[in-house]
Amino acid sequence: MAISVKSQREIALMRESCRLLADVFQNMEKAVRPGISTMEINDLGEKLIRAHGCVPNFLHYNGYPASICVSVNEEVVHGIPRKDHILQEGDIVSLDAGLIYHGYHSDMARTFGVGVVSREAELLIERTKQSFFDGIKMAKAGNYLYDISNAIDASIRPYGYGIVRDLVGHGIGTRLHEDPQIPNFAQKRRGPKLQPGMTLAIEPMINMGRADVEWLDDDWTVVSEDGSLSAHYENTVLITEGEPEILTLY
Ligand code: MF3
Ligand code: CO
Repeated sequence: MAISVKSQREIALMRESCRLLADVFQNMEKAVRPGISTMEINDLGEKLIRAHGCVPNFLHYNGYPASICVSVNEEVVHGIPRKDHILQEGDIVSLDAGLIYHGYHSDMARTFGVGVVSREAELLIERTKQSFFDGIKMAKAGNYLYDISNAIDASIRPYGYGIVRDLVGHGIGTRLHEDPQIPNFAQKRRGPKLQPGMTLAIEPMINMGRADVEWLDDDWTVVSEDGSLSAHYENTVLITEGEPEILTLY
């Protein structure tokens, strides 16, 4: 499939979809504290999405049973919310969510510390976020897609963390996952040329230890194989004639 290039009308809808999602995140972040269950975070997020008149795009996606992916500690992504999974002081929790606004999808993720977390955990979260920003310095029309991948890789490499390879970023628009796939590790080829109007979900997933991941028996939850902490930072980004527009910041 060709990479979709959005019209001005579509870009306006993408912007609004992403703005509403960022608002949902801002409110979910406030709820993160020791004692809350991962299901309560899901329920809050879903309620906020629906209060905007939007639909959670993760719910029932390929059979995923919830609206918000809540992944704790060694869980990398796609954690399934549970009533009996209570966040503890010192945990780190990754929230990943998206919504559909007038047919247009948004997608973003953040990792938060629960109460006071270790210095090592804080650094992992901060450096994962920084790798996103280093990556999108390259997200300019005329550059190539894998310039972004290479920049994320170069940002993380000095720390010796594991860059997850089994999951990647993606194009986004009238579908949650569109072409192209966007790896977070260095590529030999340069990939497609970036054009104004492309909208991309760029999402480094970084393990404190090794890069290897495995799937739990629920067929969804991805965990680091070595049990090390994992962080995730994702925004939906618009390629423009100039600097990229990060549509899901708050
Ligand atoms: N944000 C996730 C991604 O792009 C989508 C999760 S789909 C779900 O990888 F079904 F797991 F919710
Ligand atoms: Co995504």
